[in-house]
Amino acid sequence: MSPYILEADALRKDFGGFSAVAGVNLRIQRGTIHALIGPNGAGKSTVFNLLTKFLQPTGGTITYNGQDITRLRPAAVARLGIVRSFQISAVFSHMTVRDNLRVALQRRLGTSFHFWRDSAGLDVLDGRAEQLIAAVGLQDAIDVIAAELSYGRRRALEIATTLALDPELLLLDEPMAGLGREDIGTISDLIRQVGERYTVLMVEHNLSVVSALSNRITVMARGQVLAEGSYAEVSANPDVRSAYMGAAHA
Ligand SMILES: Nc1ncnc2c1ncn2[C@@H]1O[C@H](COP(=O)(O)OP(=O)(O)OP(=O)(O)O)[C@@H](O)[C@H]1O
Ligand SMILES: [Mg+2]
Repeated sequence: MSPYILEADALRKDFGGFSAVAGVNLRIQRGTIHALIGPNGAGKSTVFNLLTKFLQPTGGTITYNGQDITRLRPAAVARLGIVRSFQISAVFSHMTVRDNLRVALQRRLGTSFHFWRDSAGLDVLDGRAEQLIAAVGLQDAIDVIAAELSYGRRRALEIATTLALDPELLLLDEPMAGLGREDIGTISDLIRQVGERYTVLMVEHNLSVVSALSNRITVMARGQVLAEGSYAEVSANPDVRSAYMGAAHA
């Protein structure tokens, strides 16, 4: 088996005459936390949209677990286990933590499965919901309405509803966005723990989070890969340093 869960080769996305992603090669090793960083407009979110098939690539190929997924639809890719957080899994603010997990788990099972309608099925569902709630540290808030959670705990709930979709490769686009210092610590711990069971690809502007969490880092600028390696390697790279000069999130 290839050590890579996901490989993108010569990936390209043009918008009119402009190449937002201009020939990107990306290899994600199974079981790692891999960060994709780079200045604003580098093409990071576009790469995420290409990998999850929310956008069709103009060129290149995407291979997942040895299967060519370049032409698959988003739902098919999600079923294979590539799940993007904060897009597929929205949190319902008026519902409790438990009910949010129930909905996410039912979505995973699909409307064609009816086993949860009998009480044994419901028990399985509730058992799994409680497991996921505990895994993200929300057991004391299980009957709390999502709208009443702090911002950081809401982010934890979002991650739990994503895990309910049973991903193998989890894509997180800026998981620390909008979080205060304390919540950043909590969500970092959670991502580290999630990274023990799943492969994680994360776009994140907070470089101290990136350096603390990531096994491997790919740096993009202007639609291309500038550098790849450990945090120490990429941060010492002069091309990376100059790409970040004058960028808003340096
Ligand atoms: N649908 C679109 N149509 C036209 N141009 C687009 C579209 N989506 C993205 N772009 C452009 O492609 C480039 C890359 O955008 P992208 O959102 O991927 O960058 P990013 O690295 O995620 O940036 P940020 O760090 O600000 O989130 C930008 O110049 C953006 O304006
Ligand atoms: Mg982006």
